[in-house]
Amino acid sequence: MRILAIAGSLRRDSHNARLLRAAAIALPPGAELELLEPDALRALPPFDADLEEPVPAAVAALRERVAAADALLISTPEYNGSVPGALKNAVDWLSRPVATTVLRGKDAAVLGGSTGMFGAVWAQADLRRILATAGARVVDRELPVPAFHEAFGEDDLPHDPDLRQALADHTRALVEAAATTRELAAAQR
Ligand SMILES: Cc1cc2nc3c(=O)[nH]c(=O)nc-3n(C[C@H](O)[C@H](O)[C@H](O)COP(=O)(O)O)c2cc1C
Repeated sequence: MRILAIAGSLRRDSHNARLLRAAAIALPPGAELELLEPDALRALPPFDADLEEPVPAAVAALRERVAAADALLISTPEYNGSVPGALKNAVDWLSRPVATTVLRGKDAAVLGGSTGMFGAVWAQADLRRILATAGARVVDRELPVPAFHEAFGEDDLPHDPDLRQALADHTRALVEAAATTRELAAAQR
């Protein structure tokens, strides 16, 4: 089971990327997680329907990475009450062409955090709606991490055992959803 993990923040010391590294440690057996490098989002041009043909190389590369994954795990910060523009731009590119989008039926789970008190709950709610609109099968749960800057030690492990457990539960729910999708697809063949 291959999970592609995407951080909605591009910055080097992103807490959201750190949260995904912690999620990798909490994965159930048989699952592996690959963290998308920030350059993959940085390289995307702003979505422009006039650029769709021929498709830009960075867009094609990202679509291939998503197509090759069994599931997506996306950790989003909250910028001004919603999803960062770079992440929304990536979903917009991935959602096209509508007839063949790599997001259709793709299992996805969302988590995220902020340095404030609420843990990016608005961004997570928006991201889940955006992904579902684009055709993904979004796991019906969220994982908000407030006071992000205080949540981790040097080793990428969350201080709070409840957060470590929440990460394990969250990733297990995603893996189970993707396994069910796989079984249904196999039964239809
Ligand atoms: C442009 C911008 C807007 C932000 N808006 C919010 C916000 O609406 N709510 C919030 O809780 N934090 C907000 N923050 C703080 C982020 O939660 C914080 O910078 C967080 O660490 C970003 O995630 P990262 O560490 O993965 O980069 C904002 C930060 C930036 C740079």
